[in-house]
Amino acid sequence: MPTSLLHLQKPHSIPSINSPPPLSLHSASNIPKLFHYTRSKREMTNFPVINLGNLNGEDRAATMDQIRDACENWGFFEVLNHGIPHDFLDTVETLTKEHYKKCMEQRFKQLVASKALEGLQAEVTDMDWESTFHLRHLPQSNIAEVPDLSDEYMKVMKEFALKLEKLAEELLDLLCENLGLEKGYLKKAFYGAKGPTFGTKVANYPPCPTPDKIKGLRAHTDAGGIVLLLQDPQLEVITNGKYKSVEHRVIAQTDGARMSIASFYNPGSDAVIYPAPALLEKETEDGKKKVYPKFVFEDYMQLYAGMKFQAKEPRFEAMKARETTAPIATA
Ligand SMILES: [Fe+2]
Repeated sequence: MPTSLLHLQKPHSIPSINSPPPLSLHSASNIPKLFHYTRSKREMTNFPVINLGNLNGEDRAATMDQIRDACENWGFFEVLNHGIPHDFLDTVETLTKEHYKKCMEQRFKQLVASKALEGLQAEVTDMDWESTFHLRHLPQSNIAEVPDLSDEYMKVMKEFALKLEKLAEELLDLLCENLGLEKGYLKKAFYGAKGPTFGTKVANYPPCPTPDKIKGLRAHTDAGGIVLLLQDPQLEVITNGKYKSVEHRVIAQTDGARMSIASFYNPGSDAVIYPAPALLEKETEDGKKKVYPKFVFEDYMQLYAGMKFQAKEPRFEAMKARETTAPIATA
């Protein structure tokens, strides 16, 4: 999406191999704690593409329905016309690839050699074929402390974060509208004492000689609120379509380096997360039961750190057990 995909792409069309990289959004595992989605029975034949430009015209209602369907049945969608200039996203991509070449590639090669990951005969299940670094934007930026970033790259990534923060908050309000929650409800729910946590994982996936033996990134579901994903074309993210916080993985390629920039707009560490009362009331009326626990977001993230590559249900169960032994007061 960075580039031409955004304005020129027709709604619902899938980018061709040569199209500019898409920006995608998937609702992550915290969202289902706030609202309950039904499970998808759909096959991953084709994924939803939402033209946000249509929200300003007569297609608004249909577009909101597409977003609702994408959230309920996919947990992942691609956005067009999101307002971030293509040229700017091209710059982000170019600088990210330059930074990898200059500052990360040699280190990655040394790591591959030290872990004997060349010419693998057996499958490796405890490592990923990726080279990453993390930037934190909110509640306080750490960009100035991240080593090896050029002044230009630092400046661009700060601007990138501001643009994505705005987009994430716009998307949260679209979700509120679809859920019948007041505007700003989700942003407020994420706020805690110091505001949301917002960060970016910058990942490069160098060519891998044995992609059948080691994944670029093993299958997982994300924690947190929403994830905005900027990828170069053809980075293959496969989902099995089972979950709203959809399971996905990255397959490394034998030729050509790939990159992925994932920005996570999450609750503040001390934000208390629990199902929206208005939705619970509605579900009770509908005869459904509460299934998601109430918890402090930081506690969930600690649990998540050790269970990222497992199914998300045991994480929810563990938080429910904790909720029973140590209930959290909520205003
Ligand atoms: Fe992920």
